[in-house]
Amino acid sequence: TSSHKHERRPAAQEEQLNEEVKRFEELFTLTPERLKHITDRFVTVLKDGLDAPGKTVPMLPAYVFGWPTGNEEGRVQPPALSYLALDLGGTNLRVCHVVLKGKGKFEITQTKFRLTDEQKQMDGQKLFDFCAECLHTFINDHFGGGEGEEPILEEDIALGFTFSYPMEQDAIDHGKLVRWTKGFGNPNTEGKDCAAMFRKSLESQKVPIKMTSIINDTTGTLIASNYVKQDTKIACIFGTGCNAAYMEHIKNIPKIGHYNLPGDEDMAINCEYGAFDSFEHKHMAEIRTKYDEHIDLHSNKPHEQSYEKMIAGLYLGEIFRLCLCDLIDEGTLFLGQNTYKLEKTNVFDTAFMSLILVDPTDELLTCAGLFLHFFGLETTQEERNFFKKLAYMIGLRAARLSACGIAALVTKMGYLEEGCGVGADGSLYSKFPKFPENLHKALEDIFGEKGKGIVTHQAEDGSGVGSAIIAAMTLKRKEEGKY
Ligand code: GLC
Repeated sequence: TSSHKHERRPAAQEEQLNEEVKRFEELFTLTPERLKHITDRFVTVLKDGLDAPGKTVPMLPAYVFGWPTGNEEGRVQPPALSYLALDLGGTNLRVCHVVLKGKGKFEITQTKFRLTDEQKQMDGQKLFDFCAECLHTFINDHFGGGEGEEPILEEDIALGFTFSYPMEQDAIDHGKLVRWTKGFGNPNTEGKDCAAMFRKSLESQKVPIKMTSIINDTTGTLIASNYVKQDTKIACIFGTGCNAAYMEHIKNIPKIGHYNLPGDEDMAINCEYGAFDSFEHKHMAEIRTKYDEHIDLHSNKPHEQSYEKMIAGLYLGEIFRLCLCDLIDEGTLFLGQNTYKLEKTNVFDTAFMSLILVDPTDELLTCAGLFLHFFGLETTQEERNFFKKLAYMIGLRAARLSACGIAALVTKMGYLEEGCGVGADGSLYSKFPKFPENLHKALEDIFGEKGKGIVTHQAEDGSGVGSAIIAAMTLKRKEEGKY
C-alpha cells in the first residue's frame, strides 16, 4: 500500500513523469542513422587494432588456430579422457570438469564460487592462490578418494584457464594482462604473465595439475559454439562485461608479422571491443549522457572500457539508479520518504531492471516489493509505470549499441551476403527481457533486410566446453609438431 502523501496528487505526478519519459527518450534513443555512423567508425577501429600493437581496441591474437572439427574428443593415448576448466569471469569463479564425446557432444560438471569485492582488489598472486584453492576443493569433492587417499583423476589431465580480461599472448599458454576491466583492480598483476602467476599458485597450493591453455571467454564461446553449430563465425559476451571474438586470416594480422606462423591459416582474435571509444570518447560523443560520464569518472578505471560501460551488466543498474537520483533531487520521486539507501553507488543491481520488466501484474507488484524490501521505499503506481519505461529504455539502448560491434565485424569480414551465426552468452543476453530481439531489430536498422541473415543464438558454455575443446585442439597441434 502506498502512503497518503503519495496518493494526494497522482495526476500531477503522472504528468511530471510523462515529461521525464520524453526527456529520457531523447537521451537514450538511438536512431538507425546513429547506429550506422557508430558502426562505420567501429569498422575502422577494428582494422587499426590489427595493424599495430597497443591500440585502444587491441584486437588480441588468441593463438587458437582455426575452427574445431567437431570431432575433438578426449585423447586415447595417454588415457586422458576429460578436461578441467577454471573460469575467472568477473562475477563468479567456476570450476568445471568436461568430457568431450565427439560429434559436438559433451558432458559437464561444475561448481561456482561468488567473488567478493575484497577479492577483486587484493594482491594478484593471492587471487590466483584462491583460484588454485577452489580447483583443489573441486577435485577433492568430485574425485577425492577416501580420507588420506590421493584423488582419483586421470593422470596428466589438462586444465584450461579462462581468464576473461585483455591479455597479450604469444602462445596459448602465456598471457600478459594488459589492464584489469570489470571493476577488478588487483595490484601487481597488470603487465605480468597471468598464466605464470597461476602456475605458481598451483605449485604453492600443491595442486598437481598442468595448465595447457589460457583463453578469453569470447574465444572459448567462439570455439564451443562452432563445435556444435558450424555456421557460427562470431561470438559475443553480454554479461558483466561486453566483448567479441572471431576468426581472422593470419595474413590479415599485419602486427604479428607471419614469420613463425603459417600465413595461410586462421587464428581467433579476442577483439576486446568493450574498449571502443575509450580515452578520447570521440566516436560516440553525440550519444554519451551525463550518466555515462558519471559512471566513467567514478569507476576504478576512468576513461577506459567506454563502450562496455554503456552496455554491460555491471553498469546498467547504476545508470538506472543515477536517473532516479536526479528525479529525487528534483522532487519528483518518493515524496516525503528517506531515500538514503537508494543514494549509494552500485546498490541497484541490473537484475532488478529485469525483474521490473518481467513483472506480469498491472500494479507492478514485484517492482513495489523490490523498492520496499531493498530500499525501504513505497512507490506509487505512476512511479512504477515510469520505472518500467526507464528500465526498458536503458536496456534498449544497450541492445542497440551492442548491435554496432557485431555489425562492424560482419562488415569487416564480409559476412553480410551469406549471413552468419553469432554465438552469444552472458546474463544480459540470456536474462534481460527482449535483449536478443532488440539487438536483431537494430541489426536490421543497420543493414536493412539483409540484417535478418545475422542471427544470434544462445551459445554453448565457452569457458567450460570451449576451453576443453581448445585444450584438445592444442594437444593435437603439439602432437603434430605445430606451433
Ligand atoms: C571485459 C573483458 C573481456 C571479456 C568481457 C566479457 O570486456 O575485458 O576480456 O571478454 O568483459 O566477459
